[in-house]
Order: sequence, then structure tokens, then C-alpha cells
Amino acid sequence: MDIFILRGGSRLKGRVDISGSKNAALPIMAASLLADGPCTLKRVPDLADTRLMSDLLGTLGADVARDDDGPVRISVSDDSASHAEYETVRKMRASICVLGPLLAKRGKARVAMPGGCAIGARPIDLHLRGLRALGAEIELDQGDIVAKAKRLHGASIFLGGPFGSTVLGTANVLMAAVLAEGRTVIESAACEPEIVDLADFLSAMGARIEGAGTPRLTVEGVESLRGVEYEVIPDRIEAGTFLMAAAITNGEVTLSHCRLDHMMAVTQKLREVGVIVEPSDGGAAAASARRLEPADVTTQPYPGFPTDLQAQIMALLCLADGNSAVTEKIYPDRFMHVPELLRMGANIRKEGPTSIVTGIRYFTGAPVMASDLRASAALVLAGLVARGETTVRRVYHIDRGYEQIERKLRGLGANIERASE
Ligand code: EPU
Repeated sequence: MDIFILRGGSRLKGRVDISGSKNAALPIMAASLLADGPCTLKRVPDLADTRLMSDLLGTLGADVARDDDGPVRISVSDDSASHAEYETVRKMRASICVLGPLLAKRGKARVAMPGGCAIGARPIDLHLRGLRALGAEIELDQGDIVAKAKRLHGASIFLGGPFGSTVLGTANVLMAAVLAEGRTVIESAACEPEIVDLADFLSAMGARIEGAGTPRLTVEGVESLRGVEYEVIPDRIEAGTFLMAAAITNGEVTLSHCRLDHMMAVTQKLREVGVIVEPSDGGAAAASARRLEPADVTTQPYPGFPTDLQAQIMALLCLADGNSAVTEKIYPDRFMHVPELLRMGANIRKEGPTSIVTGIRYFTGAPVMASDLRASAALVLAGLVARGETTVRRVYHIDRGYEQIERKLRGLGANIERASE
């Protein structure tokens, strides 16, 4: 297994290119199953998760090809398969995204039920509620969701749950509704930019969707969808992580391919703690020259502060001049990074879904363990400034969502190496 070895202390400086969004690319790749012709997807990040999605689509009769870092081409040559097996789903929960497209296009789907994961229970009841409302018959057999429908029909669906909207639940119902007969209205739909990107992709294929980016999505079903060429939006979570890398090292970093308009809550919070964040040449620039101020951060569905940057901003606030409160409203148990940051000298006290962070002067390098994708990013941020050497184990978590993070950080002057354990 790979590890990262970091020696802290370099101020990051320079330009970094932000990759296409993982969480936009995954549902868009799944949505290619809906097309009657080939789809060409540009700026799909080359990650463990997008490779897994390619493999999954392969088992579902799609030919998926990619030359080096060029576009991903997906064309369906056999539409008889409909089983997403547990072997794949257990490695990547986003495999659930094939449920809506298989059901809408092939009339049947058998998709292994995802289990829990390091960040919490993560149920999929809302996905199933939405698909049932469209007329699907769904049952559970041997740990698989078995769904069928001759032709789905439009419906009015409320998709809110105890923690607000659901991103992939909205994606699944939307992907099913585009080929359903008649009009579907999804209330309490997720407003994330990744849902807007999926809706834009589906619209380019011929779907009729209104309201993407708002809590009410209206879909008029169509008979068929065509293959298209499409470019995935930049990854706002990777971009946020690099803005924080600049801030934590008191550096100066420019990001190309970055959509600051997707990151208002993040840039607002960074400015509040004293980071200078500015638009720059279609991207963004971040600089910080002094010790940061503390702040209270609460994660929320978009446009609120994203849960996927909670661990990273906590690493930043660990070094602020005072007390901060970080409250997790999407995944109340997503604090696996806390005990590892404590190993590096952080002062954090957990009270239910809130962590009280008391600023310290410096992190101390230590061997630490990555537990999930974003927790690992927080440990890398801490390692960038820690005194001495930090070893981050189980780097495969970070490889799921950050394209060549060590190369990008080295390009900015960080002292980070990948090694085999
Ligand atoms: N929820 C339900 N029932 C459902 C679905 C969700 O109660 O049927 C709850 C969840 O347990 C959670 C909340 O609703 O408390 C929101 O979950 P959501 O469904 O929005 O999460 P997701 O769609 O499964 C995506 C991202 C996650 C990101 C969340 C929240 C992808 C592939 N995954 O997951 O990304 O944290 O939205 O923004 O898009 C990551 O990239 O590190 C990651 C975990």
C-alpha cells in the first residue's frame, strides 16, 4: 500500500490546474447509459473512482475507452445486462448512480445495496422512494435492489430527507425521469453544481429539464436521448483543498480551471479568517501572510459550506488564533480526522456533531492514518506545515478523489513523496 511522506515548512507558491469534478463525472458517466449513440466526455478526472465507474459500465455492456488523459468515450454495444454487483458497489457507493439509467432505459436493474462507510450510515431510501413514485417496482433480494418497470411515468415527488436534499438521490430520479412518460416535478431537489452539470449533460442529449440549480426540478419525459460530446465542470472540492493548502502554508497559489462562483460559502469563510481570495484569469488566486483568525463553520447542502471540505477547513482552523466551532449537519459522524489531527498536536474537543477547535501554534509531524477521502486531504494539509516528518498511511483513500495530488503539491514547492509501505 502507498504512503505519503511529507516534510512540512514550505510556503506553497505557483499555479495549479484543477481537474474535472469527480462528483459531476460519476453520475454523468452513468447517464451515458441512457444515450442511443456514443458519448465523449472531456475533463473526466483520472481517479480510482472514475476507473471503477468505467469498469462497472463495461460490465453493463458499454465500451469505455480513454487515450492517456484525453476524453472518455462511452458507447453501449449490448443492453442486455442490468446487474451492478456487490464487488463493485462495496468499493464505490456512487455505483448506485446506474440504478436510475438502467431502470429508465432497460426496464430493469439489479444493483447491490451499498453498505455504510467511514463517514456514516448513508441510506438510499430517498432514491428508492423517488423511483417508486415514477412507477418502479422495487424489492430487496440477497442484498441487491431489484427494480423493474415497463415504462416509468411522471410524478410529483418530494425528495427531502432528515438531512435535507440528496445529491445522488436527485441524480438517480432525474436520470430516470428524463425517459419517463409525462411530467415529473422533483421538490427539495439538490441544488449542487454537480446536479446542474448532470442536467446540462442530459439536456444536451435531448432531455427537457427546467429548474436545475433550484429546489424544484421539472422534467418533461422524452422518447429517446442521443449521444453527445460534453465537458465536465471543474472540481470545487479539489479547488477548495488547494485554496486551503495555500492558506495553511502562508503561500500564494493561483488555480486555473476553477469556478469561484461554485464556491461562495468557501471563499466567504476563507476571507473571514484572513485569506485573500480573488478571481484571476478565469480561475482564482489565494494568499495568506499571517496567522489566521478563528471561525465557526457549519456544513450544509449547497450553496452552504460543503461537508466535503469540513475536514480540510478544520486542519486550517487548528492553527488559528483562538477558538472555532465546526458543526457537521450532513454526516454527523464525519470526524474520523479528529483523532489523527490530535496525534499531530491539535486541540479539538468533540461535542456531538460539533468539534470545538482551540488554535495551536504548530502541528508536530507524526505517522497518521487516512480513514476516508476528505479526512486524508486534511492530514496532508496538516503535514504540509507540521514540524518534522508526517507519514500518511492508506493513501488509496486520497487517490479516489484527487488526481495526482502529490505531483500538484510538489509543483507548488511542497515536500511530499509517495512511497510503498
Ligand atoms: N440521505 C438519506 N437518504 C437517502 C440519501 C441520503 O437520508 O436516500 C442522507 C445522507 O445520509 C446524508 C444526506 O442525506 O445525511 C446527504 O446525502 P447525499 O445523498 O446528498 O450524499 P450522496 O449523494 O450519497 C454526494 C457525494 C458525497 C458528498 C455528499 C454530500 C458523490 C459521488 N458523492 O453523496 O461526496 O459528501 O453528496 O454533499 O457525489 C466525497 O466526494 O468525498 C463524498 C463523500
